[in-house]
Amino acid sequence: MATDIVIDMGTKKTVLYSGNKIVLEKPSVVTVDSKTWEPVYFGEKAFETVGRTPDTLQPVFPIKHGIIADYDIAEEMLETYMSEAFGNRIVKPEVIITMPTGVTEMQHHSVSDVAESAGGRNARTIESPLASALSFGIDFSKPMGSMVVDIGAGITDIATISMGGIAQCSCLKSAGNDFDESIIRYVKKEYNILIGPQTAEKIKMQIGTAKKHQFEVAFAAKGRHMGTGLPTMFEISSNEVYEAIIDQCYTILNGIRSVLEKTEPDIVSDILSNGIYLTGGTSLLKGLKEFLEDAIKTEIHISKDPFHSAVLGAAVALKNPKILKNTDILYRSLQELKVDI
Ligand SMILES: Nc1ncnc2c1ncn2[C@@H]1O[C@H](COP(=O)(O)OP(=O)(O)OP(=O)(O)O)[C@@H](O)[C@H]1O
Ligand SMILES: [Mg+2]
Repeated sequence: MATDIVIDMGTKKTVLYSGNKIVLEKPSVVTVDSKTWEPVYFGEKAFETVGRTPDTLQPVFPIKHGIIADYDIAEEMLETYMSEAFGNRIVKPEVIITMPTGVTEMQHHSVSDVAESAGGRNARTIESPLASALSFGIDFSKPMGSMVVDIGAGITDIATISMGGIAQCSCLKSAGNDFDESIIRYVKKEYNILIGPQTAEKIKMQIGTAKKHQFEVAFAAKGRHMGTGLPTMFEISSNEVYEAIIDQCYTILNGIRSVLEKTEPDIVSDILSNGIYLTGGTSLLKGLKEFLEDAIKTEIHISKDPFHSAVLGAAVALKNPKILKNTDILYRSLQELKVDI
């Protein structure tokens, strides 16, 4: 019987891992009663209500930009998901939770508290890029620098890593949700049509691109005309979506450049010869790999499983605590703890 679990409470979805497999994956959203704030639906059912709730109900996304924004709702969501995944088959499992880099000590504690209140024990945290590095098979025992960029829904977490610790990092609030917002703004401005975030996300995933192409593809979508107020169909092309989202791609590129600028030259030299590791759902955006490769002039490796690299890597750390060198500082950045490496 598995006793340890890994939790990734992402902006978009929550993933639970235990006993060598992913045991639950659900949207990080809860629909609550608008008056009492009592949860009514969790996960997919709650997600279906987004944009369609009557006044009596309200969808709440308890994770914003990768960190908990509503602790009570996050706790109820996690408790529900843990009980769905395990029932009463495991009692007080030890937990490890993935977190963005650069958050305060207090936020690490708060997340651990939420996991413990939701039924876990001895909760610890690990920074997502460090965890993802393990899923890429990066060998921490070697004195070799690497860079991991996790572009999720609410946060882009950029970190350079050396000897099992974070050397430099930066968290940008620009990620998948912002790409969707940019598409919503573009359609409003160019077509005078209002679309919802789910339609924008569909457009992005189907024809979104970070590279302009000679041959365009188009996508037919539905929205509400802002003049007539009526539902209306419109067609948007891949190059239009490119125009809508390219600024976000430059924001991420500039974030990567500034982390590289802050990083020790020897580590940068390793990174430029070994390539940059890209993960998170938004790494699947068409053309993003080529866009970054052209600009940074180094190879970009995309995770085989960008939605799960953080949980899979955290599971590796859980099974092999010595990987991160010193168990006392297992889940914290060496640099932050001022450990001489
Ligand atoms: N094929 C695709 N092309 C572009 N974006 C995609 C694609 N597939 C998924 N995404 C985007 O990936 C994002 C979800 O990624 P992920 O599951 O890594 O986020 P998360 O871990 O929940 O969020 P975060 O880490 O930011 O808290 C969404 O914004 C989604 O639209
Ligand atoms: Mg994530």
